[in-house]
Parts: sequence; structure tokens; C-alpha cells
Amino acid sequence: MREILVTSALPYANGYIHLGHLVEYIQTDIWARAMRAQGHQVTYVCADDAHGTAIMLKAEENGITPEEQIATVKASHEADFAKFLIEFDNYHTTHSEENKHFSELIYRRLNNAGHISTHDVEQLFDPEKKLFLADRFVKGTCPECHSPDQYGDNCEVCGTTYDATDLIDPRSTLSDAAPTLKTSKHYFFDLPEFEQFLKDWTRSENRLQPSVVNKLQEWFDAGLVSWDISRDAPYFGFQIPDTPSDEPDKYFYVWLDAPVGYMASFKNLCEQRKGTANELDFDRYWAEENEHKTEVYHFIGKDIVYFHALFWPAMLAGSEFRTPTGIFAHGFLMVNGEKMSKSRGTFIKAETYAEYLHPEYLRYYFASKLSDKVEDINLDLADFMQKVNSDLVGKVVNIASRSAGFLVKKYDGMLTEVCAEPLLLDDITKTGDEIAAAYENREFSRAMRLIMQCADKANEYIDTKKPWALAKLEGTEQEVQEVCSVAINIFRQLMVYLAPVLPELTENAKAFLNIDDLSFASRNQWLLGHKINKFKPLMQRIDEKDVSAMIEASKASLGEAQESTQDTKAAAQKVQKEKDSKKAAANDSPKQTDYIGIEDFAKVEMKVAKVLSCDYVEGADKLLQLTLDVGEDKPRNVFSGIRKFYEPEQLTDKKVICVTNLAPRTMKFGVSEGMVLSAGDPKTSLVVITLPDEAVVGDLLA
Ligand code: 2FM
Ligand code: ZN
Repeated sequence: MREILVTSALPYANGYIHLGHLVEYIQTDIWARAMRAQGHQVTYVCADDAHGTAIMLKAEENGITPEEQIATVKASHEADFAKFLIEFDNYHTTHSEENKHFSELIYRRLNNAGHISTHDVEQLFDPEKKLFLADRFVKGTCPECHSPDQYGDNCEVCGTTYDATDLIDPRSTLSDAAPTLKTSKHYFFDLPEFEQFLKDWTRSENRLQPSVVNKLQEWFDAGLVSWDISRDAPYFGFQIPDTPSDEPDKYFYVWLDAPVGYMASFKNLCEQRKGTANELDFDRYWAEENEHKTEVYHFIGKDIVYFHALFWPAMLAGSEFRTPTGIFAHGFLMVNGEKMSKSRGTFIKAETYAEYLHPEYLRYYFASKLSDKVEDINLDLADFMQKVNSDLVGKVVNIASRSAGFLVKKYDGMLTEVCAEPLLLDDITKTGDEIAAAYENREFSRAMRLIMQCADKANEYIDTKKPWALAKLEGTEQEVQEVCSVAINIFRQLMVYLAPVLPELTENAKAFLNIDDLSFASRNQWLLGHKINKFKPLMQRIDEKDVSAMIEASKASLGEAQESTQDTKAAAQKVQKEKDSKKAAANDSPKQTDYIGIEDFAKVEMKVAKVLSCDYVEGADKLLQLTLDVGEDKPRNVFSGIRKFYEPEQLTDKKVICVTNLAPRTMKFGVSEGMVLSAGDPKTSLVVITLPDEAVVGDLLA
């Protein structure tokens, strides 16, 4: 049994999780589950990356403290990850005691060994906000081509890279003030001293992907330079220890303590597990001398290779800790062949996706696209629907649904004592070795292809034997049971193979198959003389309407918002509301109103609608289903939570008010395409607002 620690990159605590992030978390989670299923001890940790200027400014913009900001975002990140069945052993934050301890320890060891130096740096300073400006907070005219409005590091028009101090007429993007030049002392980590170590380290076998090694060669050729690891106050982070008393306000740059967050999250888990059966020993994973006893892998995006393959191993080696066994980089996510775009609705939040579509669809689709290469992957929405529907519903689940019925109805769920097709089942069992290897090598697309080939073999077998036709003939009872038993056994192997990708579906399949193990080894014990339970549908087909509704909802939620500000703004408003209501309670004054501007109000489109029909919704005791004429080509379907207060006939033919530009919502019972206005308390009494008969259907309310 191998002992493996695996991590995904830590998401910043100033924005929501979107589908681009999920490529990595799904990739890591599948790998962790697959390695566990092969009998290894795998620990998967992560954390929020909570420090830095961006987070400090975001909190300020939201009117909350950085601590409030990071706490709210952490909760939302954890909720999103749970929806996508990402199973961390621990999810921590870099703003933690453990992280402070290890960041300081690593820094002190590096400093004592002479790897830290200081020198003065002249930088642009915002005299109004009183802070030094990182390149992305400065804009001005390109010194080369004179294009206006270019960022402080490079010109998007002519591509020239320069220092922010070279910009003509620079402005702070934070205050629009003209920055001044100011000098301060900075702390540097001496990366060039580690050049030979890094060359050997990065080139050792299986450490990095070949394309990453090539990229590093370019960086080595260009020459390594010392890394500025300090930032001046105000900054949200950890203060650098042991600085002279006349310059105490120096902080670690966020990228210094971010990777230390991997260790810190693991340390926090070790503390949680102390005295339990799954105790973990921190030193066994991180002490230099134990480097070969355990394995540590980091999954990351291709944009942060420099930090993980150069700074991080050098920091670890220079401070007597072990270095990672391997670093696995992946490419970016494209949607429909293009960069994710807010206006096209393809910049999709994890939360929005999960409102409309099952997360396992995405897990499977990503698995079918991912390889061990650093290539971008494309989420083509038409292909996504087609693939999930044809592979998972059409091929895999179909095997069970075609054969379970006969077994349960006619044979009380009993499978035969002897396998009627040992060669076929043996072939599929053996393919498991290749599938396991493909998972381990992160060739998930290959694993999915092999699994679907097994499913094809099972379906061909069933198609040839035609149990449904056999069942109608005399004297074929045994053969029907044999054929269906073979099919169910293959289905079980497929569940073993798909478990890392589809944990929920396969968990439900376990109950149906009446088994308690889906480890890779379990497939060698075929199900003979075994009783299965009644089959229940394990996965629904993707409905195109849900994909369209998700895109519309993404447009609606992100269309005009700045990237990454949505969740925190909402959170900030919530915190502000709580503060206001506390204040209101303290002053004993009436509840305050949150005003919106007329332009926000004008966005809501309300129309006169006629109720063409109104019905109960089976299985929903709160809803009525209304079919509304709102003056469009087609009537609209709207679900409304008013069943407790109305009989359907009371509303039929009435004129009501419908909000018509609300994003469609997919509910269990269908898509709701609007909202009917009513007044009162949904818990106790609601009155649907009706209009006089003269109101004209389709008219806008003004
Ligand atoms: O690029 C990012 O999103 C960073 N927050 C990743 C940090 S990974 C690790 F080093 F902490
Ligand atoms: Zn230019």
C-alpha cells in the first residue's frame, strides 16, 4: 500500500468557483478515488488562498473585514465542491495558525541559511489609497506604441513588456490618482542559488510532464532571478518575523504562504485525526529524511507552473523539508471551442450549473476529455449532451435496466450459480488492469474509452441473445436467467470502473446490486448465486432545455457583473443587512429599507397574463402549474407555490401579473418560465394579484 498526499491548487478567497476551476478539482478527485480503489492510502487536502491585496480591496469594496470576506467565500467554496462530489479529507485556509507557523519556520530557516537578502525597490505608490501599486493596478499610455489605457506590465496592443514606471501618464486604477514614486526595502529569496538543484530536480524521472520540462528549460536559459517575497502595509497576510523594529510593516507576498497552505491543511488534518484509527503523522509526509517513504503530488493549472516547479521546491529544499514527488499540470477549459465568455453565457458558475444539471454529467464529460497532457480541454455543449446520453444512459445504465427486470420478476432477483459466459466476463475483468493503469497515469480519456468498449461488448451480447424474445418462448427459463446474470455481472464490473468518476451513481448501484464494495479488487469475485434488488433508474438523460436554461441563467447572473464580484457582493450585502438590522434593533427604529435605483427596477419586465389553465402538480404539495398567455407566440409554463391557498379553477381565466424576464428555472417537474405576483406570506396566506378584465394580455406594467 502506497501512502499518498494529493492536493489541488488553492482557490482565491475573492471569487466563486466556476467550471474552469472544476476541471482541476474533478481531475484530482477522480485520481484520489481511483488510487484509493486500488488499495492505496490517499489523503486529499486543499484550502482557500486567503491573502493578498486583491482580497483586502475586495473586502473593502464589500464593506466588510477581510476575515468576514474570507469566511463567507470559504463557506461558498466548500458548498460548491460538495455539490460536485469533490471529497477532500480537509479543506482549510491559508489564514490559519498552522500556515503562519510553517511560513515563518520556512522563512527563518531560509534566512538562517543565507538565502534571504534585502534591497530597496522603487515603486509606484497611490498617494490617496496610501498603498504601493502592483502592475495590474496601474494604467497609462504605452511607452512604445502610445496606445492609451494599458496595464502596468505589458501593452495589449503592441505586446511590449515594460515596467509600470515606464508608462506615460500613469494612473492608479484604485483612485485614479497620479501615482508617485516611492522607495521601500524588500526581501528577496535567492532563487539563482538553487539553479543546479532545480535543474536536477525538474529533470528527474516522472517528476514533471515533458512539455513542462521544456518550458522550464526556457526559463533556465533566460536565467533565474531572485524572488521578491515581501509586500508593504497595508496588506492582508502574515507579517515577516524578525524585521528591524524601525520597519515592522513587512508582509509575506501571498505566493510565499500559498503553497505552504498545502502543508498547513495537512497539519490541521493530522491534529483532527490524533488518537483516531486513521491517525496521520505529519513528519512521515513532510520531513526531508522521509522523502521516499510517502508520495506528495500537486495538481495545478498550467499558469502556475513557475511557482510550483521552481519557487516551491527551492523553498522546501532550502528549509529542510521534503519536495513533491510529482507536479501534474492541466490546460484551461474552453466552452464551445472559445474562451469562456460572460456575454455568451459560457462563463458558468459551479453553483449555476448545479442548479440545472447533475454534477456527475460534468464529471464524466471531463473524464472523457482529460489526459496526462497539458492541453486545453473543450466543453462542447452539444457533444456533452450527446456523450452523456449515449454513453452513460444509452450504454451503461441500459445494461442493468434491460436485464434486472427479468431477474427480479421471474427469479426473485437470483443470479445463476455458474457464469454462462466466463470468457466474456474474464475479458472484461482483465480489462480492469488496463483501466486501473490508465487512471493512475491520469489518462482518464483512455480509461473512459476502455470502459465504453466493455459496455459495447455487453450490449452486443444482450442484443445477440435477446432475453426479451427468449422469455416469450417455452423452456428457456434457465437461458434467460443466464443471459441476464452475465449482463448484471458486466454491469457490476462497469460500476467498479466508473466509481471514481461517478461516486453517487455507483453508490446507488451498490444498493441495487446488493454489494458493499466497489474496490478494483472486488471485481475478481463474480456475482454468482447472488440476489440483487429491484432496479431503480440510475440516471436521467440530459434535456437540452436544461442546458439552454443554464446558459440563460449564466448570462443573467454574470452579464453585467464584474468577474468574481458576485458572491462576495451578495455576501457583503447580507453582512451589511445584518449590521443594519442590529443597528435598527438597537435604536428601536423601524426596519430599514434597502433602496434600489430606478435603473434596477426598470430591468424587471412584468406583463399582463391570462391563466389559460391551472393544474395540480403530482408529487408537489406546494405548487400549482399555470399555463399563461403573455401575448407571445407560445404560452408560458409557470410553477407557483400557491397550492395551499387556491383551487386550480379559482385562477383559470383570471388576468394576473407575470414577471417575464426571470431566468427560466428547471424544477423537478419541468421548467418554470416566469413568476406570478402575489401578496402576503407564503407560509400562512398568499393572494394572487389579479387585474381587471379590461387589462390587455401582453401589456407591460408601467
Ligand atoms: O492561481 C491561483 O488561483 C492561486 N490561488 C493558486 C494557489 S496554489 C498554492 F500554491 F497555494
Ligand atoms: Zn503598445
